[in-house]
Amino acid sequence: MIVYGIGVGPGDKELITLKSLNILKKVDKIFVPISKEGKPSVAYEIVKDYIKDKEVETLLFPMIKYKEKLKYYREKAAEKILKENKDVAVLTLGDPTLYSTFSYIWKILAKKGVKVEIINGISSIFSAAKALNMPLVEGNEKLCILPHGKDIEKYINDFDTIIVMKTKNLKDVLKKINNKNIIVGLVKRATFEDEKIAIGNIDNINFDEFSDYLSIAIIKRIKDDDN
Ligand SMILES: C[S@@+](CC[C@H](N)C(=O)[O-])C[C@H]1O[C@@H](n2cnc3c(N)ncnc32)[C@H](O)[C@@H]1O
Repeated sequence: MIVYGIGVGPGDKELITLKSLNILKKVDKIFVPISKEGKPSVAYEIVKDYIKDKEVETLLFPMIKYKEKLKYYREKAAEKILKENKDVAVLTLGDPTLYSTFSYIWKILAKKGVKVEIINGISSIFSAAKALNMPLVEGNEKLCILPHGKDIEKYINDFDTIIVMKTKNLKDVLKKINNKNIIVGLVKRATFEDEKIAIGNIDNINFDEFSDYLSIAIIKRIKDDDN
């Protein structure tokens, strides 16, 4: 049995790799993550046209904070996968190595001696930079990723670019650091047909438009040679 952790990319159906597609075509079953019963899976929506004839089953990963409950759902998902005892694929949005729920399943399965193979996907961080038409980092610049922008005040002066994944409270987080010398780029649903971007400073961005889950921010310090 091999469990493939497949990165389906950020959203655009054409941004899935050939390797992922070939594996999806050959596995016996495909598991798709959902955050709520009855809610569509974003990862499944991206690949559904390629896997019409495949057996598909959901894995429930609710967005909750309680560690014990999270553990319960992860164990349950791993059990479902193990029960198959054949080659299966588990879809993840973007790349499976970057803040992906699959990484927890990966660890559980690896402990049980199951072979897990990761197939990289294009991460939303790269698609966000593309959408904003800016390089993420150049030369010797330093890059930092902060989920929810947590502790940004500690890092803002040490890094040239900061990526914030999960941008719901970004406005409040940025207000706290009170640094006017930064430029904020926001991308909602990067590479989807309804992708939306905004770029500017803290005072002229409508953060409310970028508060949903599929939004990401790239924050850059303005340097003297930018002017
Ligand atoms: C659990 S992380 C998964 C990241 C994913 N593994 C990746 O490589 O992009 C979810 C966060 O990724 C970001 N994200 C994922 N896909 C996105 C997209 N198409 N557009 C904007 N942000 C996205 C958002 O910040 C979201 O809250």
